Amino acid sequence: MRSYMKTTAIALALTAAAGAAKADGHGVEVLHWWTSGGEAAALNVLKGDLEGQGIGWTDMPVAGGGGEQAMTVLRARVTAGNAPTAVQGLGFDIIDWANEGALANLNSVAIAEGWDDVIPAALQQFAKVDGAWVSAPVNVHSTNWVWANKAVLDANGIAVPETWEDFAAALEALAAAGVTPIAHGGQPWQDATVFDAVAMSALGPDGYQAAFVDLDPEALGSDAMKEAFDRMAVIRANVDENFSGRDWNLATAMVINGEAGFQMMGDWAKGEFLNADKVPGEDFLCFRFPGTQDQVTFNADQFMMFDQGGEVSAEQAALATAILSPSFQSAFNVVKGSVPARTDVSNADFDACGKQGMADLAAAAESGNLYGSMAHGHANEASVKNAMYDVITAHFNGEFDSETAVDELITAVEIAQ
Ligand code: GAL
Repeated sequence: MRSYMKTTAIALALTAAAGAAKADGHGVEVLHWWTSGGEAAALNVLKGDLEGQGIGWTDMPVAGGGGEQAMTVLRARVTAGNAPTAVQGLGFDIIDWANEGALANLNSVAIAEGWDDVIPAALQQFAKVDGAWVSAPVNVHSTNWVWANKAVLDANGIAVPETWEDFAAALEALAAAGVTPIAHGGQPWQDATVFDAVAMSALGPDGYQAAFVDLDPEALGSDAMKEAFDRMAVIRANVDENFSGRDWNLATAMVINGEAGFQMMGDWAKGEFLNADKVPGEDFLCFRFPGTQDQVTFNADQFMMFDQGGEVSAEQAALATAILSPSFQSAFNVVKGSVPARTDVSNADFDACGKQGMADLAAAAESGNLYGSMAHGHANEASVKNAMYDVITAHFNGEFDSETAVDELITAVEIAQ
């Protein structure tokens, strides 16, 4: 009885605080980079959820896939002493902000709601610092996917490639037929996203771990790494001439419209197909990059709650609770292309790609084949990641041959640490 009364009192206090927040026009201010059609559709699920609770939403979108520009804006806001309430964040960036003491402790919400029991360890390592939950995990994305236009593949007699050699042959067939084989946007984070999968295929999981997580110079300088760069050169030869600077969602549109056969991109690309009313298995195909069928290179979007004066605010608590609710985890991720951050959410509402994503994630976690994405800040810290981006992009644009790229990678990583 007493604990019931206490809970009720807290609930009433939260409701009152939330109501007050709405009345004086505060609510939550949310900084994010979800600006493409599919991303915005997913974000609307969260906005609608909070608005339904009477909590106002001030939108702070910063365009730029992968979030680099958003992180620059965030740094400026924090430096000016004006941090937003909640900020989309990835991997090591979250740990860095927590270590700077910038984030609120969410334990009061996380413990009451049992987050420890339902959020997998791979995510907890980027959401908890020194025993304190500092961010609310929204989803799990993964980067080693390929998206294909089914009609284009069928018209050219191309089956889903199983190996790198199959994939290279498919690219050749499309080029010969006058179709752009690969839709790509030449931006460093996109080059690196492609490299995640290519490196996993060439190095294998142990090599990926050694090179990108352990930063072992031998793995960074291995023949397998040179092979990864050679494969990147094949991919570079199969993009159209206007690839430079193109946004990722415009590259996805090329596959949707049948202008290109494939896109190698994280499963946020699926949000674009769905937003264009396309159906997996009928209009488009999703499959793991050949040679990485057993692996998952993941990144998880989370909302960091910036400390607003010691305690987590009522609005931040409500946002965290909304994000972790099983119904939201399903509704949001069905639209976003990602899979739930909780292990106890049903796959019933997910399409074929989503169901595969959930099954692949569980299998990879079980078999030790789940790896943090280098390209999306889950393998190493920002300084190292950015050093890797520079080398990958310079090689992609023909500044270095593969052998030079390997040497440059070793040096860049050494300097960045
Ligand atoms: C990723 C993020 C995804 C998606 C993508 C493109 O870093 O995890 O949610 O937004 O960038 O913007």
